[in-house]
Amino acid sequence: MKVPFSPPRIDEKNIEAVVEVLRSGWITTGPKTKEFEKRIADFCMVPDVLCVNSASAGLELVLHWFGVGAGDEVILPAYTYTATANVVLHCGATPVMVDVKDDFDIDVSKIAAAVTPRTKVIMPVDIAGWPCDYNEINALVKDERIRKMFTPTTEEQKMLGRILVLADAAHSLGACYENKPSGTLTDITVFSFHAVKNLTTAEGGAICLNLPTPFDTKEIYKQLCIKSLHGQTKDAFSKMKVGNWRYDVVEPGYKCNMTDVLAAIGLVEIDRYADDMLKKRKYIFDKYSEAFSKYDFFKVPEYESSQKTTSYHAYLLRVNGVGEAQRDEIMKKIFEQEVAVNVHFIPLPMLTCYKERGYKIEDYPMAYKNYSCEISLPIFYDLTDEQINFVIDSVVNATCLVLGK
Ligand SMILES: Cc1ncc(COP(=O)(O)O)c(C=O)c1O
Repeated sequence: MKVPFSPPRIDEKNIEAVVEVLRSGWITTGPKTKEFEKRIADFCMVPDVLCVNSASAGLELVLHWFGVGAGDEVILPAYTYTATANVVLHCGATPVMVDVKDDFDIDVSKIAAAVTPRTKVIMPVDIAGWPCDYNEINALVKDERIRKMFTPTTEEQKMLGRILVLADAAHSLGACYENKPSGTLTDITVFSFHAVKNLTTAEGGAICLNLPTPFDTKEIYKQLCIKSLHGQTKDAFSKMKVGNWRYDVVEPGYKCNMTDVLAAIGLVEIDRYADDMLKKRKYIFDKYSEAFSKYDFFKVPEYESSQKTTSYHAYLLRVNGVGEAQRDEIMKKIFEQEVAVNVHFIPLPMLTCYKERGYKIEDYPMAYKNYSCEISLPIFYDLTDEQINFVIDSVVNATCLVLGK
């Protein structure tokens, strides 16, 4: 039996929705994108949402809006996907990496020591959909000592008067923290709708604006819209209206708007996200955890607590006591049974791009420990009971073989 890792859920509903847009005569940013933005805003209970063509673009747009540039520092976890740090480098700023905890998320107790007068943003990442310690992060940026260090250089930075918390929530649409949805937990949150994500539009992202007063999120939405369209003051849809052709370009912006073709997929998915997609993913998590917790050599991920609920994005199983080589051997034996598994993630300091910039994995022992014994299991909407059981058997067999159990 072949089990893929995480194919998207595409059925007749998505196909019909895309065909409808293709036939409508309007395929780029337009009414479907605006409707999708509204639906994400309602789902996440935030005032304003801008959709873009990826989470990476969304994160970079926000850093640019906040005026992050050369000489600035952005704090982020060493254990994340490369997008989190790459967008900081694109702005000419320096990613300052912090180690993570046993639950894979950034270790807040290590953030304060990483803050300097150059720190402009903290980017926590909800790894696998598990929310970070947001009470502690939000309290830290408001702490008197940390606030005093903040050195604003742009109007936006002066208005906020402290470090911006920009959540990389690429994995965590639908996750909750103290009954509040991901999207409302920090100043700004960015989701990904990439093909492997819980809610996919093939490629896509959303920026949730939840900034405190005196920020006017409607105004910031407009600014980000312009920034996502070459700095042009009108999008193509508005320009099409009779007599509305004249436009201006106010800055050399990016080009990263979402298209209506993709928003149409998102509209189908958001309709069935909470009651269908999340429920199915929880079912798979429960099945895996029930099976693997019977063995003392597995460590199952934390995914529900009195404070936090995951979005059930990725199932990060760990094999106690093994190192990289043994983990790789186990993965090889799982692959031999035609079950696709993965590792989320190789810590950034182990990748050439960051090694060349001086980051060393020795400085992030927990990131390395988590990585070296981690195996991400298949999880997707259409995974059947038979496949779930097959994955469990394959993982148990492969691990027993390698551990000699
Ligand atoms: C933690 C994290 N951040 C950011 C991204 C970037 O998302 P996108 O592919 O939508 O740009 C990803 C993508 O996998 C991710 O895993």
